[in-house]
Amino acid sequence: MNLFGKPAKVLLLLLISGSTYAQQQNTVTVHAGQGKTTISKYIYSHFAEHLGRCIYGGFYVGDTSKIPNTAGVRNDIVAALKKMKIPSLRWPGGCFADTYHWKDGIGPKDKRPSIVNKWWGGVTEDNSFGTHDFLNMCELLGTDPYLAGNIGSGTVQELADWVQYVGSDNKNPMSNLRRENGRDKPWDVRFWGVGNEAWGCGGNMTPEYYANEFKKYATFMTGDKLFRIASGANSADYHWTETLMKTIPGHLMEGVALHHYSVIEWNKKGPAVKFTDEQYFRTMKSALFMEELVTKHSAIMDKYDPQKKIALVVDEWGGWYDVEDGTNPGFLYQQNTMRDALIAGVTLNIFNNHADRVRMANLAQAINVLQAVILTDKEKMVLTPTYHIMEMYNVHQDATLLPVEVNTKDYVFGNEKLPAVSVSASVDKAGVAHITLTNIDPKNAQDIDITLDGLAFKGVTGRILTSKSLQDHNTFAVPDKLKPAAFKDASVKGGKLKVKLPPISIVVLKLKK
Ligand code: AHR
Repeated sequence: MNLFGKPAKVLLLLLISGSTYAQQQNTVTVHAGQGKTTISKYIYSHFAEHLGRCIYGGFYVGDTSKIPNTAGVRNDIVAALKKMKIPSLRWPGGCFADTYHWKDGIGPKDKRPSIVNKWWGGVTEDNSFGTHDFLNMCELLGTDPYLAGNIGSGTVQELADWVQYVGSDNKNPMSNLRRENGRDKPWDVRFWGVGNEAWGCGGNMTPEYYANEFKKYATFMTGDKLFRIASGANSADYHWTETLMKTIPGHLMEGVALHHYSVIEWNKKGPAVKFTDEQYFRTMKSALFMEELVTKHSAIMDKYDPQKKIALVVDEWGGWYDVEDGTNPGFLYQQNTMRDALIAGVTLNIFNNHADRVRMANLAQAINVLQAVILTDKEKMVLTPTYHIMEMYNVHQDATLLPVEVNTKDYVFGNEKLPAVSVSASVDKAGVAHITLTNIDPKNAQDIDITLDGLAFKGVTGRILTSKSLQDHNTFAVPDKLKPAAFKDASVKGGKLKVKLPPISIVVLKLKK
């Protein structure tokens, strides 16, 4: 050790490189023999709010629509999401959840009251898409529902009733009401949010006040294997997480949420497509901040829950920009470019690498809102670059995480820099290993040497999503401009993998046994 608190050899290397960050080459070691953590498939979950055209026009068009549908849910959307693999879907909000009274959305549609959607454009919400519509849609999708309960403007009784309405098989007022409304058997609803953003649109509460509210609500939610998720911190609000972990006993809470959006500045978000090089750098800096966030929130959770029983649930994440010109500002409709694909690639690698604590995450939002995987325009539908990343990365769902050590070159912008390469790896139940890699540098390719410590393999195949420009995107006129292609720049030499990632690229490698 020396003056700088670093071993002499490390210091020498740092002095030679002239920076505490700079690396002369990209090297990755995958510790194939050290896999012990499952990457929960729920890390690949999504979010659907009554916001803009996410539900109405996105998922749901009603059963009288000419657009092919099943009980009002678009067939094209169901097919696309099933192909991508969607393990869980959070609904009905977001901020909307704390204004939502679920009994408004059951029973005959022509009897349901209309309300004003306070948070999102002040539009009329006619409640035509309610509990039965959502839960039946989840069955169509083969996805596990995640219902967000109303704490801000609801009551303990209202939430307890909802839990009983959807999940009870006994005879009681709520399950009887469900049967009257045409559903005999309960649905399988495990995931429950106890409010949303309680520090903001969910009631502007202090963490101390919310923690007490949580305990009260959670106590009266009864059912088998409920997974109750506390409304979590806004980004780096570590005091929020600390207060919840300190105050709420483990037997009442299965998950703590965290929300973080890749945003440049809340009052100056910049365009979704015509962004500058600087705006790109700032967005990626915000996306990569997720590493620090999950590390620090996890460390706080470790103090109170060393056995990691409680999950960190990042139930809102993604890129957030200015809305598209000419669209309702309250609808949060934005295009989706290669920048978004890279946000998805690096963020999913971060979540995978923290799979011991991050056991669910929900990209915001599935259709037509923020970092959507699908955009619709009446009968037309387009898959975004983010969709393709979610689909390429689905090989990690429920696979065993293989720890990685990464030395990366920097992506330099002005006087600042970010790690150019991000990586995660896993081995699935059939013993097939996959490695996902991103290169966020918009100008420089990355040559990477990968050592597979403890893994015998015979060859490698891969898929890539890349494009010349960060601003490239799919449109309704040209829906397939960006789609995954076969990746040819990976080879095996001397038991090592040599990979060349072009600038702006996301790659998934599959190792042949
Ligand atoms: O996803 C849009 C909004 O962002 C959600 O309603 C809210 O929870 C968050 O602030």
